[in-house]
Amino acid sequence: MGSSTSGVITELQRNSNSWTKVVDEIVKMERKIFPKHESLARHFDEELKKKNSGMLYIHMDGQVVGYVMYSWPSSLSASITKLAVKESDRRQGHGEALLKGAIEKCRTRKVQRISLHVDPTRNAAMNLYKKFGFQVDDLIQGYYSPDRPAYRMYLDFDSN
Ligand SMILES: CC(C)(COP(=O)(O)OP(=O)(O)OC[C@H]1O[C@@H](n2cnc3c(N)ncnc32)[C@H](O)[C@@H]1OP(=O)(O)O)[C@@H](O)C(=O)NCCC(=O)NCCS
Repeated sequence: MGSSTSGVITELQRNSNSWTKVVDEIVKMERKIFPKHESLARHFDEELKKKNSGMLYIHMDGQVVGYVMYSWPSSLSASITKLAVKESDRRQGHGEALLKGAIEKCRTRKVQRISLHVDPTRNAAMNLYKKFGFQVDDLIQGYYSPDRPAYRMYLDFDSN
């Protein structure tokens, strides 16, 4: 348990000098971690250049070890579109630190709800989302591919 102690969280800036290096590392991780139909690897640049979207990443000793992407297409709701931590660096609080960071970013957009989709077989992710109070809304058949459904989960902010 606990937070990420040795990693540094950075928000990817569109004009940053390190954009190419960081995005290259993330695309490599994306290819390793996610099956093709769930992977954003081929569309990363487009995805990241979309308005109303952002990405946080954690780096340790000059290497990216995890990332989270989020977007706020409307003033009502935001979504977490991706979260991953390098296999060799898991269970050290990075996932939790990234999710917390993304929730804070969405909170500043004053949205009422954050939603996300997750493959029900992804236990670690399901537990992490539940730990933050996300609740299962619906099971969406055929979401990732014809035989791979997704849970839609949401977290509502208090309206004050
Ligand atoms: C989900 C993921 C990002 C978690 O990253 P992580 O850095 O290992 O997570 P943390 O160390 O911050 O763990 C936080 C919480 O997640 C849950 N969790 C993490 N790994 C778990 C595991 N192997 N089994 C069960 N629960 C787990 C626990 O609730 C944990 O809290 P705890 O330490 O109090 O038990 C990582 O496992 C991953 O990249 N998985 C593959 C990609 C994926 O499934 N992404 C989400 C779908 S888009």
